[in-house]
Amino acid sequence: MELGNLIPPYRIRRGRLSDAGGLYAVHERAVRVLARRVYSDSQVESWVHGNSPLCYVEAMRDEGEIFAVAVARRRGIVGFSALKGREVRSLYVDPEWSRLGVGSALLRRAEAMIAAAGHDRVEIGASLAGLTFYELHGYSVVKHRHWRSRGGLMIPAADMEKALGTAVADDRPFRRRAGQSG
Ligand SMILES: CC(C)(COP(=O)(O)OP(=O)(O)OC[C@H]1O[C@@H](n2cnc3c(N)ncnc32)[C@H](O)[C@@H]1OP(=O)(O)O)[C@@H](O)C(=O)NCCC(=O)NCCS
Repeated sequence: MELGNLIPPYRIRRGRLSDAGGLYAVHERAVRVLARRVYSDSQVESWVHGNSPLCYVEAMRDEGEIFAVAVARRRGIVGFSALKGREVRSLYVDPEWSRLGVGSALLRRAEAMIAAAGHDRVEIGASLAGLTFYELHGYSVVKHRHWRSRGGLMIPAADMEKALGTAVADDRPFRRRAGQSG
């Protein structure tokens, strides 16, 4: 049996306003568990401070962010991305679904949408928890900086970018892509 067959199927679709609760839940878990490996408790608390499902409604409805969600049967949303223009603004995967290729599939989808809109590069304000992942996907750090999180703490991060159409050094076929059904 191929390893990919062990991955529960999921599909990726456009995010909608009714996803707000699921987006919020995945964001909370991803930051509290995955980002906590890199940031302190106080940084994590400041990151999630004041977040709520309404924030995703506002991002979609008022700020024009385009969401893509990875949805698994009987589980619901297990990851999501959000983009605006040539910027990937969010990418979060539920900890129980991490290292299964979901983040890579969402990033590839976001890049394809950005390319289809006519942009020649992708920009990301990356948390340090995502740095290795993005480098693997061909992104380079443009600048290290701090961003002011909702709770007020300055949190170390990095501006990263990648020219679209450039070859990725380690462009493994991500064996677990087989789990993606949509
Ligand atoms: C970063 C994130 C989106 C990755 O999602 P994911 O679904 O786990 O990623 P994938 O399974 O597609 O990973 C592909 C490869 O990236 C690398 N990678 C992923 N997460 C990594 C990590 N935490 N540390 C080191 N390498 C990592 C690995 O090489 C992995 O391949 P492997 O599992 O075969 O070794 C997810 O860990 C996350 O939500 N993190 C918290 C929030 C965050 O920092 N988001 C990004 C910046 S806003």
